[in-house]
Amino acid sequence: MSLTTETIFETLNYAIDREATDSKGYTVTGDALALITINRPDKHNALNEVVLRELSAALSMARYDEDIKGVIITGMGQRSFVAGADIAEFRQLTPLQAQTLATKGQGVLNQVAQMPKPVLAAVNGFALGGGCELALACHLRIASEQAVFGQPELNLGLIPGYGGTQRLPRIVGLGIATEMILTGKPIDAQRAYGLGMVSQVVPQKDLLSAAKKMLRTVTARAPLGIRMALEALQASELPLAHGLQLEATLFGQIVSSKDFSEGVGAFLEKRTPHFTGE
Ligand code: COA
Repeated sequence: MSLTTETIFETLNYAIDREATDSKGYTVTGDALALITINRPDKHNALNEVVLRELSAALSMARYDEDIKGVIITGMGQRSFVAGADIAEFRQLTPLQAQTLATKGQGVLNQVAQMPKPVLAAVNGFALGGGCELALACHLRIASEQAVFGQPELNLGLIPGYGGTQRLPRIVGLGIATEMILTGKPIDAQRAYGLGMVSQVVPQKDLLSAAKKMLRTVTARAPLGIRMALEALQASELPLAHGLQLEATLFGQIVSSKDFSEGVGAFLEKRTPHFTGE
């Protein structure tokens, strides 16, 4: 394979991003994106208590960081996005502790889903169990060619606990979700694409550049519109009448924003809009 200037740049960028995670728990890219890298490659980036806590803290920072317009979540290394919750922590759990663990994990993944800024999973390898659930909680997903998705919890005598039984059927439909959870059989990136689990499949070396490109397309739009659209989309899980009511309410609110005036004005004046998020 010959490396073009662009691929060399992107390869360097990839390495730099991954080394430079600062005290916020993410790297700020040149395009106002936070890159959160789950960094436990010796355990396939499994989500133990510490990783979940750090992920939660990084999400909180990114939520209120005015320099951040969107978030990419990926896994350290070439093999795994996240290979699940930490199985070693399951050993001695009482039923109450297990329920608490599931509730905590669901809480962090809800934090992802409820972010007012777009969150994209750049799935670079195994996304199993809690890793698949983390990807499903993100608003957008891109996979590398070597990504693998699965809910293998039944192999351990368990069921998914971080939202898999709820988010997977909402994204791929009840039939396929039931098959994936009951058989535990993983699926590759192309099948995930065919099922609508991911928007794109790209070579591993292009994953972060593709993720940034997609988020740049999103974040060029009006910030208030992005926030309200995400809020309304999350409400698609509510009964239809409630979701429609929320959509109408938000639609009513957004017309008093400066971004709305700017967007309509720019269209009529045939120029590029300049959105300020007000
Ligand atoms: N929790 C805790 N540790 C995990 C883990 C998880 N979910 N997934 C992998 N690891 C650990 C392994 O125990 C091993 O630790 P060790 O080096 O101390 O023995 C290390 O990561 C490397 O894993 P290994 O299984 O040797 O790598 P592999 O390349 O042969 O297989 C996987 C990779 C991802 C296919 C395999 O590790 C796997 O099936 N993991 C569990 C997936 C799962 O069931 N997830 C749902 C959890 S609810």
